[in-house]
Amino acid sequence: MTEQLKFPQNFAWGAATASYQIEGGWNAGGKGASCWDRFAHTPGKILNSDTGDIACDHYHRWQEDVALMRQLGLKAYRFSVSWPRILPQGRGPVNQAGLDFYSHLVDALLEAGITPFVTLYHWDLPQALEDEGGWANRATAEAFVEYTEVITRALGDRVKHWITHNEPAVVAWLGYALGIHAPGLKDFALGARASHHLLLSHGWTVPVIRRNCPGAEAGITLNTSWSVPASNSIHDREAVRQGDMWLRWFSDPLYGRGYPADIQADLVKRGVLPNGLDFVQPGDLDAIQVSTDFLGLNYYARHVVRAEAPGNDPQTVFAAEKDLDHYTEMEGWEIFPAGLANVLQRLYFNYQPPKLYLTENGASYSTPPDASGRVPDVRRTNYLRGHIAACHHAIQAGVPLAGYFVWSLMDNFEWSQGYKQRFGVTWVDFETGQRTLKDSALWYADVIKQNAVGI
Ligand code: FCB
Repeated sequence: MTEQLKFPQNFAWGAATASYQIEGGWNAGGKGASCWDRFAHTPGKILNSDTGDIACDHYHRWQEDVALMRQLGLKAYRFSVSWPRILPQGRGPVNQAGLDFYSHLVDALLEAGITPFVTLYHWDLPQALEDEGGWANRATAEAFVEYTEVITRALGDRVKHWITHNEPAVVAWLGYALGIHAPGLKDFALGARASHHLLLSHGWTVPVIRRNCPGAEAGITLNTSWSVPASNSIHDREAVRQGDMWLRWFSDPLYGRGYPADIQADLVKRGVLPNGLDFVQPGDLDAIQVSTDFLGLNYYARHVVRAEAPGNDPQTVFAAEKDLDHYTEMEGWEIFPAGLANVLQRLYFNYQPPKLYLTENGASYSTPPDASGRVPDVRRTNYLRGHIAACHHAIQAGVPLAGYFVWSLMDNFEWSQGYKQRFGVTWVDFETGQRTLKDSALWYADVIKQNAVGI
């Protein structure tokens, strides 16, 4: 028999997207270029030379998309604002057409009874600022405050949930240190500087949000997988600890603990901090530990970590079977719902944020429409069921989780993977722009309606 796991009243059932991944209209309506426009237009950076120039064309089809959300019965919708649509040069002149676009979207959402959750920065930095050094340059954090002033003044009367940054670790390390994301730089010293300026800009803008949006909640979204050592070898366990440069390097300063000494020592050992943390100025750490109303978490997978160390004992404790019932189509992203419950508990009991939102969770499967036009994406439904049940488990264990946002409302531009990876609960035909709710969307609509998941 199916057991129904009931969720708390007013649980925010949502779906998430991000501006560059869905909007298209890359140079429409007075928008300036972003670092992702530049990066995707650079040959060799994105699989199949895909770009976000058109993407889901949400810039033109947003009304249809709000209608989809209404059909799903979403309680909340998380989207991001494209900074260069608002300030084409990153600072200075404001593009009224850009403000109008988001203002109309917010009105339509509220009209549909859907609560908007706005992310200020989901990776599309104005190229004009990237040209001046991007996040490695402290002045970008100042420009972020200016941008936040403009957008919160325009929407603050209606938007009451604000996320400053999405996954700053990915911006800093994948963008500036590993070269996989825009701006495509490969310099860990720049990555470290970028991480500090991202956090600093968060600290500086939370008070701006509070001033311009009475009664609003403000927070930040971090990402982590559930990382476990492949064996009991000291090297594998040490590799898991070092991997915390993706989490603790960000969460510790946000919660008043400063940059963790062990990760700092790792970076020094790698020779990437020749001048230490010389980019940290007096007062910065106080600004970063500003109090927030929630912590956002994006969780997708378990990662089994194996160190490439001389003398490592390769004895595998966690045998990993590579099939699509255990892995999604994102290489190495292993399905492990219990990891989500673990991560939520780790974050809550370690840092005690007043509440948490799971701001992204979902799976890439490319299941196409069948002859009748239905999309039978059973694996995605199974993935979502398992992870929503894990959320319930975490709530039972005392975690104040207040909402769940599926990634993503619709198939979209998956960064360096282009259109190959499909995370949507809605199928998008990228030739025609046509949208079709997948079976997982219909299943999710029922979860929302029942405020419960059946397992
Ligand atoms: C996260 C990103 C999001 C999406 C998912 C699959 O890291 O925040 O934009 O690409 O991964």
